[in-house]
Amino acid sequence: MSNSGQRHRIRRPGPRPRALAIVAASLVSIGALAWWRHERQLDDLLVRTEPSRALRDPGLRQHAIRVGRPLFQKHCSACHGVDLHGNRRLGTPDVARNAWLYGSDPVDVEHTIYYGIRSGHPKARNLTDMPAMVRTGQITSADAIDVVEYMQSLAGQPGDQAAVIRGRAIYFGQGNCFDCHATDAKGVVDYGTPGLTGPFYLYGGDRATLVDTVTNGRHGTCPAWVDVLAPEQIRAIAFYMISRSVPPAAAEPGENSAHDP
Ligand code: HEC
Ligand code: HEC
Repeated sequence: MSNSGQRHRIRRPGPRPRALAIVAASLVSIGALAWWRHERQLDDLLVRTEPSRALRDPGLRQHAIRVGRPLFQKHCSACHGVDLHGNRRLGTPDVARNAWLYGSDPVDVEHTIYYGIRSGHPKARNLTDMPAMVRTGQITSADAIDVVEYMQSLAGQPGDQAAVIRGRAIYFGQGNCFDCHATDAKGVVDYGTPGLTGPFYLYGGDRATLVDTVTNGRHGTCPAWVDVLAPEQIRAIAFYMISRSVPPAAAEPGENSAHDP
């Protein structure tokens, strides 16, 4: 009798913690499921909301940044830099300092991510290239040195004034530079041409790099992501990039040189 009573007492504590564990595990799974469903609803809302409105919605914006940051680090940071300051070896722009080639409007940023730049995709951004001006004989290497002197003067660098005047004539004449980079040399968002007045450069603003660019041309490429990432992922990355971009006023000239590879 006492023996069976003892067995009873010994056995009893067994099932209770197990039941508790089952209840706890169920609560955790219900919580995880609810969280997962909430995240999927936010994904859904993110892609269904008009981009500039979604960007102004604090909840959607936070969700996009949370999702976009790790995706950016995984797929994009190798070329764009973990801190989005770009890479001069590849010619990636410093979007952290707001030096966008195609503008920071979410629709434009998304378009670039979907189809890329000179990626080979039929919808890629590919209106112009930087021509190999000297190699193709459009200008001479002496002209290249002069036009570089002109660009240096636009960037506020001291230089040879006679060369600056000759370089300006090349810019608006033989080189046809103004046609793609604008008469004020600030670049054209529709073509994705960079500004040439500094302080931010794709490939570099020192004389040697500028001469190299004008002599041999440039053809920066960004892959198309349309077949790799889902629409909500692309929107999330776009919002993440935009959120990391600070207005030019807050940017410190020349600081991006610290991020050279
Ligand atoms: C293999 C290198 C490489 C990878 C990987 C890459 N990019 Fe790019 N990306 C570039 C280069 C180079 C440019 C500048 C192209 C040019 O010269 O016009 C660029 C430009 C861009 C631009 C245009 C920015 C502007 O100034 O308007 C966006 C947006 C962009 N990339 C997004 C992405 C995203 C998002 C990913 C990841 C999903 C990604 N890129 C991955 C190389 C890369
Ligand atoms: C047909 C259009 C076109 C013409 C003409 C043109 N450019 Fe460009 N240029 C571009 C494009 C596009 C890029 C960006 C290339 C890239 O993203 O890889 C560029 C890039 C550059 C860069 C690189 C800037 C940086 O941030 O590193 C310099 C410098 C430059 N151009 C100077 C000139 C000069 C000087 C001339 C005239 C002699 C000229 N370009 C004529 C289209 C043009």
